[in-house]
Amino acid sequence: TLPVLIDCDTGIDDAIALTYLACRRDVEIAGIVSTGGNVPVPAVHRNNLALAGLLDIAAPISLGASHPLAQEPMYADDTHGPQGLGHAVLPDPERTEDPRSGAQLWVDIARAHPGELVGLVLGPHTNLALALEIEPELPRLLKRLHIMGGAINHRGNTGATSEWNFAVDPEAAQRVLAAFTGAPARPVLGSLEATEAVQFHQDTLDRITQLGESTGHPVAMILAEALRFYFEFHQADGFGWMAHVHDPLVTAHAVTGQFAGTRPLPVDVELAGTLTRGQSVGDELGRWGREPNVDVLTGVQPKAFIEHLLATLEAGLRA
Ligand code: BDR
Ligand code: CA
Repeated sequence: TLPVLIDCDTGIDDAIALTYLACRRDVEIAGIVSTGGNVPVPAVHRNNLALAGLLDIAAPISLGASHPLAQEPMYADDTHGPQGLGHAVLPDPERTEDPRSGAQLWVDIARAHPGELVGLVLGPHTNLALALEIEPELPRLLKRLHIMGGAINHRGNTGATSEWNFAVDPEAAQRVLAAFTGAPARPVLGSLEATEAVQFHQDTLDRITQLGESTGHPVAMILAEALRFYFEFHQADGFGWMAHVHDPLVTAHAVTGQFAGTRPLPVDVELAGTLTRGQSVGDELGRWGREPNVDVLTGVQPKAFIEHLLATLEAGLRA
């Protein structure tokens, strides 16, 4: 089995990604780090603890930092609801937290699986950046790092040019990309222009709602109620009755290598721009004279991916 550490700001699409991982028998969730982002970190943590209990995930779950490295937190309760999971009401968590910090958990789990751990960042990069201060060898301890974040030559979804996970903690994203430059395996970056190819429509919402009704599995019902809120947000934001679902694509690509290709690119994060702070800049024409430091997801196959995701949830939550 493939050990995976998931660092997330759960979050509607984070919850789907976590459930997807729990449904895969070939994956061992080795650790969960709760990072503040979509909602404040205590709410993220509560969601992760409750979902882990309902999904029988035994991994340690650590509370991450309460603030980004160098700016005040921002929250997206319009997008994800005040508790992070839209209309869903979660039971009180049965799981208890691991006493270690989110950063320490990154370090301990990576050291326990040298060369084998897949790191998955689905939220702001704060805790991974702090982990790199404890263990600068992390880029060489991990098998690979997969990131949902950034927007390459694409409008932002937070600032005009910045994507949420990078905009919440630009310094952390910049430090992570810098630290992993020259790592044995280039980080894989699923940025907005790739993840926005994954659009759920009513038929997908129906499949997840039916899964809840036919199995009575609480997590299927939670995901359906969460997604309904996500659709309402996208409609209010002018996208129509649909939802962009980002994190599960990056997650499925991380564990299967399927549903998208990659292309190498030098990418850095703008920290100084008054209009563009948090933007991920890709050097398409090699003007910086730097080697590519990430592999950017490209050529996404949304239909095949959504079918795979639904089939995995249906098999896993029925069992
Ligand atoms: C990212 O921002 C969050 O709201 C989502 O969970 C995803 O990780 C998309 O920009
Ligand atoms: Ca997320």
